[in-house]
Amino acid sequence: MNSNNLLWHNASITKEQRAKMKKQKPCIIWFTGLSGSGKSTLGNFLEKRLFELGYHTYLLDGDNVRYGLNGDLGFDKKSRVENIRRIGEVAKLFVDSGIIVLTAFISPFLDDRQIVRDLVKEDEFIEIFVDVSLEVCEKRDPKGFYKKARAGEIEDFTGINSPYEKPINHEINIENDKIDIDENIDKIISYLKENGYLDV
Ligand code: ADX
Repeated sequence: MNSNNLLWHNASITKEQRAKMKKQKPCIIWFTGLSGSGKSTLGNFLEKRLFELGYHTYLLDGDNVRYGLNGDLGFDKKSRVENIRRIGEVAKLFVDSGIIVLTAFISPFLDDRQIVRDLVKEDEFIEIFVDVSLEVCEKRDPKGFYKKARAGEIEDFTGINSPYEKPINHEINIENDKIDIDENIDKIISYLKENGYLDV
């Protein structure tokens, strides 16, 4: 840690004040699942729906964040841990600003997702498992990466030669290959309404 000789400054406008102005309870909606499971698509649909309902959101997406902020990171274990650590810290800043932040990263390791969960308050982290089997993701193969990984052209590819640890204490399970996307989005919106994240 290089942050030992630093002092945290409290902002004059609190998270609560920002949240009240936006009529929402800020949180991290964390999608996790294999490549090709539909995390980004779900994130985009959910954000669009929340936006249309008048909420303030922002989507952090795996591929986009790796172009910029995390452009220096690869896919070995150490890089993936750092990838998720940085995203967690960024997501926390968004929560502090009153935003509902959606994230779409494979985030394959239980420990790393737990670290992000522990960064914020208990009810500020909603983990959504995009529950699609490897067989289905591999058949979809939207970017052709599974084929390349099977051919030995990509190292450490999640599901092929790098593990994916399924969530065990997640808030929402989405069977994205069996249920229509609009129905899945309804399920997430209902959860947010029932648990006091919207219209506060
Ligand atoms: S994570 O494991 O560190 O959370 P992240 O979600 O940021 O992964 O990035 C995953 C995306 O990077 C995949 O959807 C795929 O497009 C691309 N990618 C490139 N190489 C790999 C790899 N070895 N394993 C998984 N995804 C990869």
